[in-house]
Amino acid sequence: MRIGVLTGGGDAPGLNAAIRAVARRGFEKGFQITGIKNGWAGVLDDGDMEDLTPASVSGILPLGGTMLGTSRTNPMKEKGGTDAVVKLLRRRRIDGLVAIGGDDTLSVAAAMADSGYPVVGVPKTIDNDLSVTEFCIGFDTAVGIVVESLDRLHTTAASHHRVMVVEVMGRDTGWVGIVGGLAGGADMIVIPEFSVDLEAVVDHLTRRRAQGKQFSIIVVCEGVKMPALQPAGSVAAVEGKRDAFGHVQLAKQGIGETLSSRIEEATGLETRITVLGHLQRGGSPSAVDRLWSTRLGVAATDLLADGKAGVIPIRKNGEVAVVPLREVIAETRRVPRDLYELQQVFG
Ligand code: F6P
Repeated sequence: MRIGVLTGGGDAPGLNAAIRAVARRGFEKGFQITGIKNGWAGVLDDGDMEDLTPASVSGILPLGGTMLGTSRTNPMKEKGGTDAVVKLLRRRRIDGLVAIGGDDTLSVAAAMADSGYPVVGVPKTIDNDLSVTEFCIGFDTAVGIVVESLDRLHTTAASHHRVMVVEVMGRDTGWVGIVGGLAGGADMIVIPEFSVDLEAVVDHLTRRRAQGKQFSIIVVCEGVKMPALQPAGSVAAVEGKRDAFGHVQLAKQGIGETLSSRIEEATGLETRITVLGHLQRGGSPSAVDRLWSTRLGVAATDLLADGKAGVIPIRKNGEVAVVPLREVIAETRRVPRDLYELQQVFG
């Protein structure tokens, strides 16, 4: 049996651990493993792929990024694109595919599965916004980076009695912000799921000062829309810069920068902005990301070996479970109110 493996969408720490797991389990079973380069771009036209070997996947467990490269290429943009991908894979005698990615990558995988090609997914996204699964490759490491950053920013905030605004990733959800912010002791966390206006932020800061608190750290997610910050803090400001899956580059709306300036204007408090950006996706994966990437990568190979397709191994109740691919992309998982409101105890 020959299995293909690809990584699509944004890179994330833990992707190499998953590739290694898919390959190692495959080698153990006597399979050949083909690495497809740069996500779906590697299965367009004549393809861009190479066979993996025990040597080529050796030493990659602790490495960030993806040894296969990645892209946001969407083969479904062209009519018949998915069929062309399936045809190429069959021509190259690849019997099944492991697609490691988030909702965009997995939507292509699901379409291929619908057309009868054996595809299994593995959940990856630092945004943590896939349905059903308790684990997405990269989220734990990204949160760790946010927490470390907040710890470091506390020093300047406290020493200079400043307001520090910290912009984090997460696209249209606030998982990175709320989990990173709570774990890093942020004084206020603004996420896309629950709208807050500039006035509420200013009130919060004023109240803290009145209580004798000399500094504040505010975490704001890149996807937050604040009516008072229009047009700079709005998606309208970045319309026209969509990727192949139709997403705007949310970081370009500059919510952190705008919020920081407006806080300074409104309160007179010295305010600074830090945009964590792609630092959140860089570097070595955490132990949790390594372990679960490994478990799910092995499970993905096992599923293809057992003739299963159109499914994805996930973490559910702390264990590996298998669900249809369509279930994890059915809807965007959003931060629940109780988790969001937990910050009120600490603000
Ligand atoms: O989906 C992961 C993510 O890091 C989002 O949080 C962010 O909005 C986006 O990717 C950034 O994408 P790019 O690396 O293409 O700028």
